[in-house]
Amino acid sequence: MIQKAEFVVSNTQPEKCPKPDRAEIAFIGRSNVGKSSLINRLTGVKELAKTSQKPGKTQLINHFNINDRWYLVDLPGYGFAKVSKDTKAKWEVMISGYLTGRKNLCGVFILIDSRLPPQEIDLEFLLWCGTEGIPAVLVFTKADKLSKSQVDKNVKAFLKKTEEIFEEAPDYFVTSAEKGTGKDELTTFIEELVNE
Ligand code: GTP
Ligand code: MG
Repeated sequence: MIQKAEFVVSNTQPEKCPKPDRAEIAFIGRSNVGKSSLINRLTGVKELAKTSQKPGKTQLINHFNINDRWYLVDLPGYGFAKVSKDTKAKWEVMISGYLTGRKNLCGVFILIDSRLPPQEIDLEFLLWCGTEGIPAVLVFTKADKLSKSQVDKNVKAFLKKTEEIFEEAPDYFVTSAEKGTGKDELTTFIEELVNE
């Protein structure tokens, strides 16, 4: 159970992140997919992570202290068309530097919009995690926006695509930050991961 959740620090430089002395997990995914909203829902702290209707809100590596035991990290989104090439390149260096260099990282949660059919950019990112040896878990978001059967169809289609990349399908969760769907299952999974 998440009893305590507080903001620690924001960074552009992975080496300036908090001392890697405890387990850590990170949320990533396309801009606007709902990373920050899901962090707020999981922690039960409404405005812990900043959210926006406009994509490109989270621009830094944000560390949150959970239960004084582990870190939850909110990252900027990828695939945001409106930022300059220069900014995009900087974010890429920052995110890949963080993900490949962070020694205490136990898992990366790739958030995927459950309203869409499989997106190339998400599959590419998942593949990149695989080649870097970064353990990835899929989290489908905004499940409240479609009927269950439509969500199931998109989830199935995405999982089918992952079969072309990996022998074993990644773990996955279907969530809604709006309704709280999947919150308990995802929290339990994360807690097992950080306690291993
Ligand atoms: P960036 O920081 O820009 O990369 O975006 P983000 O992935 O952190 O998304 P954010 O949490 O800021 O949410 C983007 C928009 O989607 C906001 O308007 C949220 O209210 C909305 N949103 C997020 N999750 C859900 C959800 O589960 N259901 C619904 N209906 N809307 C959601
Ligand atoms: Mg965000």
